[in-house]
Amino acid sequence: MAISIRQLHPHFFGEVSGVDLRRPLTRQEATEIEAGMDKYAVLLFRDQDITDEQQLAFALNFGERENPRGGNIVKPQDSRLSTGLNDVSNLGKDGRPLPRDHRAHLFNLGNCLWHSDSSFRPIPAKFSLLSARVVNPKGGNTEFADMRAAYDALDDETKAEIEDLICEHSLMYSRGSLGFLDYTEEEKAMFKPVLQRLVRTHPVHGRKSLYLSSHAGAIKGMSVPEARVLLRDLTEHATRPEFVHVHRWTVHDLVMWDNRQTMHRVRRYDQSQPRDMRRATVAGTEPTVAQQAAE
Ligand code: OGA
Ligand code: MN
Repeated sequence: MAISIRQLHPHFFGEVSGVDLRRPLTRQEATEIEAGMDKYAVLLFRDQDITDEQQLAFALNFGERENPRGGNIVKPQDSRLSTGLNDVSNLGKDGRPLPRDHRAHLFNLGNCLWHSDSSFRPIPAKFSLLSARVVNPKGGNTEFADMRAAYDALDDETKAEIEDLICEHSLMYSRGSLGFLDYTEEEKAMFKPVLQRLVRTHPVHGRKSLYLSSHAGAIKGMSVPEARVLLRDLTEHATRPEFVHVHRWTVHDLVMWDNRQTMHRVRRYDQSQPRDMRRATVAGTEPTVAQQAAE
C-alpha cells in the first residue's frame, strides 16, 4: 500500500497512512517519510501497536540514536526503560505514577513549557518519535508550533535584529523558570549551558526557523533581563494559535517531529493516573554554532 499524507493544519502537521511500523521500511518508504518530515515538520501515524525495539528500529531510518546522557536527573540504573528509549511517562521503576513531590516528576514538569528537544546539547536532536502506550484520562495533549511559519510572520526589522543572535541553553534555565533550583554539583556540570543560534536554516529546503526553547536563558552580548524579555516576546509570537496544532492522544499513536523547525509542550494531566509515553530520539548531525562539543 502506498504512503499518503494528509495535512491537518494550514501550516504543517501531516497524518500518514499506508505504513506499518512493525515491519522494516523499504528504502522508498523511508525516503518518502523523511521528505514528509521536511515538508510537514510533524507526522502522525495512528494504530501503531509497536514494541520498543520496533520503535527504535523505525527511528534509525533517519539517523543515529541520540546518547541520552546529560538529559535527565534520573540515573541510568534507576530508569524504568532499558531499551534505548527515553521515558517520558509519569511512572517510576515499579510501573506506578510517581508521587507528586518526587524529584523526577518535578523535573519532568519542564515538558509543560514550550521547547525543542535537546536544545541544551551542543549538537541538538534532529527528530523525536513519541509513542503512546497508555493514555491519561484527563489532559496530556501535546501541542506543536511551527517555527518556520512563526519566523516568516516576523516583521523585517525584527528579522534583521535577531538574525545573528546566539543564545545560551541549559536544562537549568527551563527548570529554574519553574522554581526547580536545587542541583547537585554533578548535575550543574552536566547541565552547563551550550550555544545555539536564534535563527536556523533547514539543511534540506533552506527555510529559516526561530530556534526557541524554554531551555534558552541568555543571549550573548545582552543583559539577562533584556534577553529574557526578547525571548518571551518571540515565544509569545511563535506560539499564537495560528501556528499551533493540538494533538489529542489515542493509544498507539506515534507522533514524530522535527526539532529543527518546531517546538512542543505537553499540557497538565492527572498525575494520579498513568501516562506511558516513550520517545526515540534521532541525533542531530551538526551544532548550530561552532563551539566546543561535549565529549
Ligand atoms: C518529549 C515531550 C511531551 C509529551 O517527549 O520530548 O516533550 O506529550 N513530551 O509527553
Ligand atoms: Mn520534548
